[in-house]
Formats: sequence, structure tokens, C-alpha cells
Amino acid sequence: MTAKNQPLEAATPRKMPFQKYKAFQPVALPDRTWPDQVISHAPRWCSVDLRDGNQALIEPMTPDEKLKMYLLLLELGFKEIEVGFPAASQTDFDFVRLIIEQNMIPDGVIIQVLCQAREELIIRTCEAVKGARQVIFHLYNSTSTLQRKVVFNMSREQVVQLATDATAMVKAHTDILQAEGTDVILEYSPESYTATEMDFAVEICDAVMNVWQPTVAKKMILNLPSTVEMATPNIYADQLEWFIRHLPQRDKAVISLHTHNDRGTGVAASELGLMAGADRIEGTLFGNGERTGNCDLITMAMNMFSQGVDPELYLSDMPKIVAVSEECTKIPIHVRQPYAGELVFTAFSGSHQDAIRKGMARVDGESAGIWEVPYLPIDPTDVGGSYRETVRVNSQSGKGGVAFILESYYGVSLPRPLLLEFSPVIQKLSEGGGELKPDTIWDAFVNEFVEVEGPYRLIDYKVVANGERQVCEARIKVGENVIDIRGEGNGPIDAFIAAMVETLNEPLNVIDYQEYALNEGSQAQAICIIAITDEADSKFYGVGLSQNTITAAFGSIIAAINRKWR
Ligand code: KIV
Ligand code: ZN
Repeated sequence: MTAKNQPLEAATPRKMPFQKYKAFQPVALPDRTWPDQVISHAPRWCSVDLRDGNQALIEPMTPDEKLKMYLLLLELGFKEIEVGFPAASQTDFDFVRLIIEQNMIPDGVIIQVLCQAREELIIRTCEAVKGARQVIFHLYNSTSTLQRKVVFNMSREQVVQLATDATAMVKAHTDILQAEGTDVILEYSPESYTATEMDFAVEICDAVMNVWQPTVAKKMILNLPSTVEMATPNIYADQLEWFIRHLPQRDKAVISLHTHNDRGTGVAASELGLMAGADRIEGTLFGNGERTGNCDLITMAMNMFSQGVDPELYLSDMPKIVAVSEECTKIPIHVRQPYAGELVFTAFSGSHQDAIRKGMARVDGESAGIWEVPYLPIDPTDVGGSYRETVRVNSQSGKGGVAFILESYYGVSLPRPLLLEFSPVIQKLSEGGGELKPDTIWDAFVNEFVEVEGPYRLIDYKVVANGERQVCEARIKVGENVIDIRGEGNGPIDAFIAAMVETLNEPLNVIDYQEYALNEGSQAQAICIIAITDEADSKFYGVGLSQNTITAAFGSIIAAINRKWR
């Protein structure tokens, strides 16, 4: 026996070193209420593409790319945009100055700038935002148990002191800005909130609020990041509900979320967090951001949209959003990216294609304008896609897919028996592997039913009226011989068939006939599909294509006879 033929040995059980890790300790909240909530309106969205997203790129955005991304964010309807970390990057500083000095912040849009809890950085950040009408000053410091111990070697009291001192500094320095007419909103992030003891998170946020002194009318933002996603999203929701219940001045704070995606559930965590009472969501387009990324705002907004909730972002031109994102981040969008990837509205499988076709057929009628199509959570045209993309053909596909392609690309609707005849041709082609593009399917169709190899060829014809009747005189090639034929009938087709019957000396009954114009792109061609039966009652389809309807019809008859002889 060759090695190739040997039976596979039973795999030796191998283990990953899972003992190295410990389970995340959830907060106790047996009377949680968030699971009963539904998301019924959009949150306040804040894009952090130009900061968190940019920080995570192999090649950070150039000033031009930043501007391009910024303009896209405005176009999509973001009202809060974190435009950079100006004290940490000259490019960011210059960009903030550019959009302020060039008056590029529309009314109703607030820019946000990130800053660490250090005085020189706070001063520099204030310089960056000087002259802005409104600004969110985003102050952060890490509060997590692990970082306090390992990175900062600080007690809880010391970390609270650091945060409150920094808040006092922001207050002092932004008082000058406020006096100059800039409206300043404070955002405070206890960074690594999810890895912070919950009571400590409340304590430090409350302490910051006491220094800043927000009011119900002029709230501050408390941003609660899952800087590293550490547990299932329900645990994040529990942490948030716990926090919100225990925060003394809840009515003076906007609760904001900033999730990362280390476990692949960044969107789910933000969604459950909204159910737990949050008001605002930070994230990025397609989730670009540190490591596995941030909350993907496109997915989250589209999830709402697909539930009949206004996402309050305008995402209709998804191809443009993809193109600008790819250009600015230099990261390609995956073909399976929800709502945006090249394949996300595509079915290859025959049964899916069939269900989609049936679902689409009743969209306008029976379903009263409500989108209910199997396998398609939303209408692709709502995000700049087309129905054509929903069906693509490979070896997994069926007749329905082929019919859909011919119909949607060429305007050809095949009679079922013809489709049944054509199907094995396509099946055979697809077994070569890969996808069959519409033009390949079309070529195969033409090959099989139009340009049929066989003994007969139409060279020329003329049809003249003879009173009520029509006379057809045609020249055809039969094998190597050219012969002239003549027939008379009620119309041109009838006359041509009469001529052919006389020549062939055998019966020829037309049992199916359809003729119509093809799609515009096909140079206004007509298609004629015909079925004939012979003396043994066998049925043969033939198809003719021409700009002239009579030529198309005669072509289809010749093609059908050739198929019989084939
Ligand atoms: O992920 C994070 O914690 C951050 C903070 C700066 C908010 O990006
Ligand atoms: Zn982040």
C-alpha cells in the first residue's frame, strides 16, 4: 500500500494551553432589565475614524486622506467627529487647525479631540481647538485594576486624584476658550472601563463630574470603553446597567460607549449596551481601529435600518463609502463585510436563488412595500447595490440562477422546457470550476440555441404580399448545396415554414412562439424563441436574434431544425 492509500490514523488528542487564562468575573446583576429593551431609535453617533481608526493604520492617513475621510463622514451625517489627538501628532494638530481656519465645520457638527491627563497636552489641545464654535474635549486615563498595578503603580485614590486634577486643568484652560466664544463639552473616559472594578468606575466618574460640574441642561459625556473586549457582550451590558444605576448624577451625563472587537462582538456589545441605557456610540466605518478594530458603525446603523429604525446616518452609497475607506485606510473591505462586501447579497446556491427570485416577485405586490425576501435581510438597492448581484452562477447553482441572469442582464425570459434543456449545458460548463459570468452564460445560450451547427443555413429571403396572403422566397444552404425555396402562408413565418416543409418533405409544427425586444444594451435586437415538433412528436427549440423581427423568426426556425438534425 502506498502512503497515499493508508487509512488515516486516529488523531492524537492535542490541547491548547487554555489553563493559562482565567475567566472574566461578571458583575452580579440578577435583576437586570436590559434584555427586555429594544433599540427603537438611533443613538448619538460619534465617528472616531480620524483618531482611533487612524492610530491603528500601518500608514496613518495623509492630510489629504484625513480631509477626504472627514468630508465623507460629514456626507454620511455624523454630527460628532473625533478629528484627532492634536497634542500627540503634528498632522492631527494641523488638520484641526485647517478645518477650523477654513470654516469647514458645518453648523450642528461638533469636533472632538482626544487628550491625556497631562497639563502640557491639555494646553496644546486647547491651542489646537482655538476658534472652534463647539468642541468636545475628550480626556482619558486608564483606570483598570491591572494597569494601576502593572503600568502606573498607583492606588485608587491616586488615580482619582490624577483624573480630577486633569479635569480641573481642562476646566481652567478651556475657561479661556469659553470666554472667547467656544462652547466646550467635557468627555471623560475611564480607559479600560470593562477591566475596572465597577464601584471604582462609578467613583472616578462621579469625582470628575464633581469637578466639571455639568448640569442637566449642559451635560458632560462619560465614555465607557471596552478598550480590550474581555467577555461576552451581555456582561458588558450588565456592567453598564450596574454603572448607570449607581451613578449619582446620571441626569447630568450622556453615557457613551466605545467598544473594541477583540472577541469579534464589538457591534453586539454596543447594541446590548444601548439596551442597557447608553445614549451615544463611538466607533468607525467598517470597524477600523486598534487591533481587531472598533465598533463597526456601518453594521450597527444598518442593523437598525433593517429593523425599521431610522439609523440617522445616510448610507445609501455603500460603494462610495467602501472606496473612500479603502483609499484612506489602505485596508480592503472583506467580500463578506456585512451590508458592504461584494458577496453579501449574492446567492450561489440553487435553492437560495430560487427563493430570492420568488421573494422578489412579490415585493411590490403582496408584501405591501415591506421587504420580505428570503436570504436578503435588506434590499440591496437601498445601499447602492443592484438585484443583478443577488444571483451568481457556479456549480452550486440551479436553473433558477441561470434564468435570473438571462432575464436581468439580457431581458430574455426562457420558457421552462427550454430552460430544462439549457440547464445541463450550464451544469457541464460550471463543473470546470469557478463562477460563470453573465456573458459566458449568454455565449453558451447562443451556441446552444442560436448558432446551431447543422445542415441548414439561411442565406437570403424576401417576403411579398399576394393579396391577403404572404409569399416567402428564400435561398438556403443545405449541406453543400444552395437551393431556392418558396412557400405561401397567412404571414411570413407561416410562408417560410410552408417553404421549408416542401423542401424537407416532412411535417413541421410550430407549438411555441415568442418574440420580443431584448434589453437596451443589445442594440435593440429582437429575440424569437420557437419550438417545433417533428413527425415523431419530438420537440425542438430554436432561437433567432436579429434587429429585424422576420430574420429573427426565420433564424429560430432554422436553428430548431438544425437542433433536430443534431
Ligand atoms: O479604546 C479606548 O479605550 C480608547 C480611549 C482613548 C477612549 O480609545
Ligand atoms: Zn479605542
